[in-house]
Amino acid sequence: MIVGKKIFTQIVTVPMNPQAQELNEVIISKNPVVFDLLSQKGKNIFFPKKGILGQTAEAKGTRINATIGAAIEDDGSPMRLESIASKIDLDPSLSFPYAPSFGRPDLRSRWKKMIYEKNNSLKDKAISLPVVTCALTHGISMTGYLFIDEGQEVIVPDLFWGNYNLALTNAYGAKLKKFNLFKDEHFDVDALKNSLMSEGEKKVLVLNFPNNPTGYTPTFKEMDAITSTIKDAAEAGKKIVVITDDAYFGLVFEEEVAKESIFAYLADLHENVLAVKVDGATKEDYAWGFRVASSPTPSKVLIWICSTHLK
Ligand SMILES: Cc1ncc(COP(=O)(O)O)c(C=O)c1O
Repeated sequence: MIVGKKIFTQIVTVPMNPQAQELNEVIISKNPVVFDLLSQKGKNIFFPKKGILGQTAEAKGTRINATIGAAIEDDGSPMRLESIASKIDLDPSLSFPYAPSFGRPDLRSRWKKMIYEKNNSLKDKAISLPVVTCALTHGISMTGYLFIDEGQEVIVPDLFWGNYNLALTNAYGAKLKKFNLFKDEHFDVDALKNSLMSEGEKKVLVLNFPNNPTGYTPTFKEMDAITSTIKDAAEAGKKIVVITDDAYFGLVFEEEVAKESIFAYLADLHENVLAVKVDGATKEDYAWGFRVASSPTPSKVLIWICSTHLK
């Protein structure tokens, strides 16, 4: 089939689904800033409670469940190939049935608990239940889906992981706006401040510590300075979503360098700041082949919980 170029550039406007509308009303009532930070796609997305996935969840554990395309043995266990099952040292009921699209609830709760254990400053701060993604790359892509409209500036240090070009610019039309990362061998706080205070109310900032490619992680003092800079911008009326790419979390070996994720400092910083943590086992747990990570979810029910300044 030959299609005209126009077809590819045409924007198809689909009316907002009432389920998305319902969620947006919840978000607006809890914190309207979070709603303002969402992209058009983010505003339109919803988890179809009333559709196939919702029915599947409802049918779980019932005597007759005819909703899902998975075969079971007469004893109720999942039908499986011995050649695969014999290589997995887990109860088949844990490894073979369909996992929920946003991840197994027990895994998500455990990861959340671990985030608190590894970040003392998060104590008494509310965060959402993480959503499972196919490693951090997919988590970063989901932040693009949720927060970036075509042409949106995304503030990144001038030394950054090159795949943001693909995941954010190519995929969602972001314009990466670089700030100078180092000045006199320290984090260039003024450069960050200038980027945050530039024209426009909505700001999307990506922070990645330890940083790829430099390996840099802020000292405690620098962490405070970065946090204060973001807070000052929020107080000046900027609405900021900060995506913390924690791919190398934990790989910190010097005394005066902060061990916790900057997410822990940002989580309840200001009602104009929405902190989104993207992390995962890939490097944190030396599990490169798992392709599992955690991030916010396209289901807005969970996203608004990320914002700790709820009315
Ligand atoms: C800064 C940064 N973020 C994210 C990733 C991707 O992580 P994953 O392999 O879990 O998708 C990498 C991988 O090199 C990285 O360096």
